[in-house]
Amino acid sequence: MAYLELENLTKHFRRRTGLFTPPEIVKAVDHVDLSINEGEIIGLVGESGCGKSTLSRLIMQLLMPTEGSVVLQGKRLADLTPEEIRKRRRDFQMIFQDPYASLNPRMTIFSTIAEAVLTRHPDLGKDWDKLTAQVSLLMEQVGLDSRYIRKYPHEFSGGQRQRIAIARALATEPKLIIADEPVSALDVSIQSQILNLLRHLQRDLNLTMIFITHDLSVVRYIADRIAVMEKGKIVELGESESVFKNPQSPCAQVLLNAIPKIQF
Ligand SMILES: Nc1ncnc2c1ncn2[C@@H]1O[C@H](COP(=O)(O)OP(=O)(O)OP(=O)(O)O)[C@@H](O)[C@H]1O
Ligand SMILES: [Mg+2]
Repeated sequence: MAYLELENLTKHFRRRTGLFTPPEIVKAVDHVDLSINEGEIIGLVGESGCGKSTLSRLIMQLLMPTEGSVVLQGKRLADLTPEEIRKRRRDFQMIFQDPYASLNPRMTIFSTIAEAVLTRHPDLGKDWDKLTAQVSLLMEQVGLDSRYIRKYPHEFSGGQRQRIAIARALATEPKLIIADEPVSALDVSIQSQILNLLRHLQRDLNLTMIFITHDLSVVRYIADRIAVMEKGKIVELGESESVFKNPQSPCAQVLLNAIPKIQF
């Protein structure tokens, strides 16, 4: 059984174009079927506006689908009770492009990560030493020195901040991570460090991962399979290498041609 299944998943938005014209329908996600195995990394690629973030928000249950459903281990998310949804929420985590925007500037690294740890282990709230040890462990797991535990996000570089965001995501012991352009805001030299970190964590923890990017070269070595999205639809799905070597859809060909041929 697939870990996560998207069945006919659809999200339409109404967009007002003028005062006297009828609203236009934006088919942000349009009848998407996709089956994701446990422990798999799916690269979701496509040009800006093709619906990648909307698809991830549907999976995260931050948006209700217009049609279709998200099925987790054989269970439709729409059929879960609010209590079950609350519990499941810890199993799904997101990592965003801009870690500075997703971290609270007034919270230390300790508070940021501890808050997430407590959603999984509320009992640790009574055991400060154990909580601190757990936060330190998570920091080390993402390559941050735990001596910085009392520092604030602005005291770190972009790459380090993304490591903090990753540690916070891991703190809830998730099963699925959706990373939406997690390295796009970082210097190229830092990008590969963060990609390697995500790859290692995914293997060590057997995470299922959806890795969203407009840059095919970023997912080439990290994804098992690549799904190419265009205008709300998945127009190509295949093993990572085969999409690279033999792209079938015009959209994948355009994305491939957008990769600079000379890379330093
Ligand atoms: N809340 C909303 N209301 C109306 N339209 C929306 C809303 N959210 C997204 N859209 C539209 O849906 C389409 C898909 O947007 P989405 O953000 O999912 O694309 P994306 O692939 O993530 O793009 P990017 O690569 O730029 O992040 C776009 O045309 C967008 O304008
Ligand atoms: Mg997006």
